[in-house]
Amino acid sequence: MKFVTLSATLTALLCSTSPVLAQSPGDDGSAQARARETVAAMRPEEKTVLTHGIMALPLGPGMVMPEDAVPGAGYIPGIARLGIAPLKETDASLGVSYAAGLRKDNSTALPSGLSMASSWNPQLIEEGGRMIGSEARAKGFNVMLAGGVNLMRDPRNGRNFEYLGEDPLLAGTLVGHAIRGVQSNNIISTIKHIALNGQETGRHFVDVQISEANARESDLLAFQIGIEIGQPGSVMCAYNRVLGEQACASDWLLNKVLKQDWGFKGFVMSDWGAVPDLNAAMKGLDQQSGEQLDTEVFFGDKLAAAAARDPAWAKRLDDMNTRILTAYYAAGLDKNPVAPGGRIDFEANAKVAQEVAAQGIVLLRNERDALPLAKTARNILVVGGLATTGVMSGAGSSQVIGEGGPAASIPLGGTGPFASFANIAYHRSSPFAAMEKMAPEAKLRFRTGRSVSEAAAAAKTADVVIVFANQWSGEGFDQADLALPEGQDALIAAVAAANPNTIVVLQTGGPVLMPWLESTAAVVQAWYPGIRGGEAIASVLFGETNPSGHLPITFPASEADLPRPVLDGFDRLEPDFIGRKPAGAAPLTANYDIEGSDLGYRWNARQGHKALFPFGFGLSYSRFETSQLKMKGLSATFTVKNSGKVKGATVAQLYMTANPAGPQQRLAGFKRVELEPGASQTVTVSIDPRIVAEYVGNGWEIAPGSYSFALGENAEQLGTPVKAVLPARKIKP
Ligand code: BGC
Repeated sequence: MKFVTLSATLTALLCSTSPVLAQSPGDDGSAQARARETVAAMRPEEKTVLTHGIMALPLGPGMVMPEDAVPGAGYIPGIARLGIAPLKETDASLGVSYAAGLRKDNSTALPSGLSMASSWNPQLIEEGGRMIGSEARAKGFNVMLAGGVNLMRDPRNGRNFEYLGEDPLLAGTLVGHAIRGVQSNNIISTIKHIALNGQETGRHFVDVQISEANARESDLLAFQIGIEIGQPGSVMCAYNRVLGEQACASDWLLNKVLKQDWGFKGFVMSDWGAVPDLNAAMKGLDQQSGEQLDTEVFFGDKLAAAAARDPAWAKRLDDMNTRILTAYYAAGLDKNPVAPGGRIDFEANAKVAQEVAAQGIVLLRNERDALPLAKTARNILVVGGLATTGVMSGAGSSQVIGEGGPAASIPLGGTGPFASFANIAYHRSSPFAAMEKMAPEAKLRFRTGRSVSEAAAAAKTADVVIVFANQWSGEGFDQADLALPEGQDALIAAVAAANPNTIVVLQTGGPVLMPWLESTAAVVQAWYPGIRGGEAIASVLFGETNPSGHLPITFPASEADLPRPVLDGFDRLEPDFIGRKPAGAAPLTANYDIEGSDLGYRWNARQGHKALFPFGFGLSYSRFETSQLKMKGLSATFTVKNSGKVKGATVAQLYMTANPAGPQQRLAGFKRVELEPGASQTVTVSIDPRIVAEYVGNGWEIAPGSYSFALGENAEQLGTPVKAVLPARKIKP
């Protein structure tokens, strides 16, 4: 894997004064000028062609799919007279989505976003983006609804698995690289969902309350960094409300923050069914997506009529078209048209997915060096988690299914139009089979785990027990709590009581509690590990992969430690994929000023809570030391050494621990470093000034004075702080 130093990346980023989108692939800087020319040539009736479109799925008897549509998330017709091809849109961040099985073609499933983020490896994530984007192109899509980067404010959010964790620097950097990879295929990527889309419960109407400073220093900073690095053609606005407005009709979010302050030149597309009215156009929304899901098609005839009677609307309509076409030309869609039926090297792509899974697995516990297992290990009992069948995947619009369909699809039942989508799908990648292949001399047995006493009895006769424990999550619903479902806690406790050499492999959408932790020998966090997840898990268990993943989120010690011990609305709302506000239901607000910009580890630091496993935590089969931190202004230099016996990688983490006002913890920089045993490397990290600044009034301000920085094994295990005296500085919003 090729590494670019963080300092180089950030320096390039910070020195860049180019308008957002000017560096997109295929753009020679003139995309906006070309867009303007095309808009000038548009006939009035052509001006609302690009501003709205359908969800490209046969959603009912009256729905006729355009002839050239590819079943997927969306379709926006083109304007052949002007050489503009239709926009064909597919989900999402983890690969070309399954579109409810309407396309039976194979797609490569990356591991979940949290798995990707655990690699802390921007170049690998970019490679993943390149891979999924190439599949989108080969299937005839030219817009990928990727770039999910909502920060984890609540560990129970059902979509955490799609996103990249709780920290704006880490998530923003990684999403920028993911987008860069997708767009390197001359297609458009989104970044989504702007903003503060922190829970699924009541997702269409929950009203997020947050101060501007808190928003800018957290969720919005992740978007800002991601947009600067990735230069996405489009931004997708969120379902929820922000400060009383629907996010897709928020003048503050779309016009002020995104377009005015950040200089975004591309277009804002709505989430599917997120447009409240025509006026959203004046608030900054450029395109109505999945229009069947809204109450009306606002951005068609109604928009044309408004433009015909009012010059302000006509001007705005031209701007909407200019923005869509700027993204179109910047991505090079005109010069590199897409067509279905492209060749895909699934074998090569699966290897990318496997590498991401391998680098994303986090070793959480390893007592008495229980891992790695010797390949000659005798008598291994594998329990639960459908480990002989496949690996778990998360559900919803991001769901990717590989060749031949899922290995298992377990219907959950229920009522309503979306009940048939509630299926727990497993990828065809059996950890059990992969382990057998990797260690042919070992004797492996399997118990389903349905009967606790059967598993415990079998555990007594095994040398080692590996329990697979899974927590399913998906779009449209949140987790009720942080417990493993379906009695798996009791299963693990009983098996570990029967055999002290019990290793737990977790496949979860986010953090879980581990009441059985102390009685286990090892715990491996595998997240949803994607199409080659079984192989990646086996390679960590048997030491072919030295684990290097580090948590991109905090595993809280208890729900009582969370800013919201009960998730807002969870106690009174039904889980509902469409999620419209039930008639007569009381309004729902979520007060994000409780934690403000202090998410996860920062909240814990502020409150004095200790995590079950802190942000940044991850063990290795080797040992690493980071030392000799020296600060020069916002540049940090330090040494990373592999002092263990095997080759491996670690993630060096630099935290700000105090500013002139007092203690304040923030991840200030990071770098994944691969080292041979005994080798060391000097690393320089440039700190983005916005990380140490506060958002005050209309921009960022660095207060003059003394700042402390420390290297960290993780957010809770910090080295000796080193001071840097910084001069006063103002930075534009
Ligand atoms: C999701 C988006 C997705 C869209 C199109 C929505 O339900 O929130 O992330 O891109 O559907 O499928």
